[in-house]
Amino acid sequence: MTRLDTPKAQPAASGPELYRKAKTLMPGGTQLLSKRPEMLLPEHWPAYYSRAQGAEVWDLDGHRYVDMCYSALGACTLGYADPDVNGAVKAAIDRGSMATLNCPEEVELAEVLVRLHPWAGKVRYARTGGEAMAIAVRIARAATGRDKVAFCGYHGWHDWYLAANLGADDSLSGHLLAGLAPCGVPRELRQTVLPFQYNQIDQLRAIVEAHGDELAAVVMEPLRSSLPAPGFLEEVKRLAHQARAVLVFDEITSGWRFTIGGVHLTLGVDPDLAVFAKGMSNGFPMAAVIGTDAVMEAAQASFISSTYWTERVGPVAALATIAKLQRERAPDHLRWAGDQVQSGWRRAAERHGVPVHVGGLPALSHLSFQVGNAQAVRTLFTQLMLDRGYLASGAYYAMLAHRQEHVDGYLAAVDESFEVIGRAIATNSVEKHLRGPVAHAGFQRLT
Ligand SMILES: Cc1ncc(COP(=O)(O)O)c(C=O)c1O
Repeated sequence: MTRLDTPKAQPAASGPELYRKAKTLMPGGTQLLSKRPEMLLPEHWPAYYSRAQGAEVWDLDGHRYVDMCYSALGACTLGYADPDVNGAVKAAIDRGSMATLNCPEEVELAEVLVRLHPWAGKVRYARTGGEAMAIAVRIARAATGRDKVAFCGYHGWHDWYLAANLGADDSLSGHLLAGLAPCGVPRELRQTVLPFQYNQIDQLRAIVEAHGDELAAVVMEPLRSSLPAPGFLEEVKRLAHQARAVLVFDEITSGWRFTIGGVHLTLGVDPDLAVFAKGMSNGFPMAAVIGTDAVMEAAQASFISSTYWTERVGPVAALATIAKLQRERAPDHLRWAGDQVQSGWRRAAERHGVPVHVGGLPALSHLSFQVGNAQAVRTLFTQLMLDRGYLASGAYYAMLAHRQEHVDGYLAAVDESFEVIGRAIATNSVEKHLRGPVAHAGFQRLT
């Protein structure tokens, strides 16, 4: 049963009901901001899944959707419940996923990671992206004996990062998450992290000039929504090393999607540390910090240790995922699917007079509406697509499980939705079409 089989103006289903209860039990409702229904379609987003398989997701009422949205926020590059990865994980569970001794797969995975990244000699593990980034920053600070960090982009929830907003201004706006109050972050961390913007080398140069001898690290994604300007990454590395700071590439989202391993392998600039997480293990928690022998040596001296970093499922899932990404040449497929989605968006927008901006590299595509009430239009897009059986928003993160029929069906539904949106914009009636409130655009406290 797809959402299409159900009447349009239906009463709130059990997913939205359960979410209302969740908000009374869990501050913020969900454990990840991007999975809050308020970020997508307030009061009507299905919120919970009962089953996910390939590119499809079933909600609590048995409605089937094709997920052409964030693909678990980029955690499932292959597709949901991938049989090869799940098979390897189930076998590992049956052999014991935890013991007093260590699992040998963590050594095997380290060998794979340093073979794929010849500049790196050592590896440490964690299970989530944010904690792996905190480890990388700890290692950089330990290796240099300094505290300050220059950064660009989003790197998780930890104190070292949110300290950017301890100043008078909203330093994190423009780095993926605006509006984050640094509540609970020690005021003493103020001025320890200094933001710069991607492709704005002068901003980093100014930081190095002012704080070079206190700088422990330069932290950034090597690539996110656009390619680096010629010479940008080379100059970032030169400036970092001139200051004797550690260059950290956050490959939590960019890794494994554009190439097998970090996207930096294709950009010609090697960092001192690189961090991988959700793209690496197809939905099973796993994260890795890889680095040069010299910098990683500092991890010996700092206490970096956690019981669950030793469990077996993460490394087993990563090994199986990496093998399948390689076998199936997944990055080529993701580019192919993303190219089709981007040109389909443009075609439908032109046909129905909807002003859009299409951005991002194909595997991580972004769509925004170039109108005054853009967030209302984006909310309406999600509502119209949900009615047609698709989880959709202003982003398309490609998965190997997205086959031609998914892309074709999605683009046919986009075309129908853009027709409605084009008319709604022309008649100034976007908000009238919405069955609930407009979606949140950034971090907001839930009421
Ligand atoms: C570039 C980047 N860094 C860090 C993180 C944080 O990872 P996690 O959500 O696993 O803590 C994310 C997650 O979206 C990310 O995209």
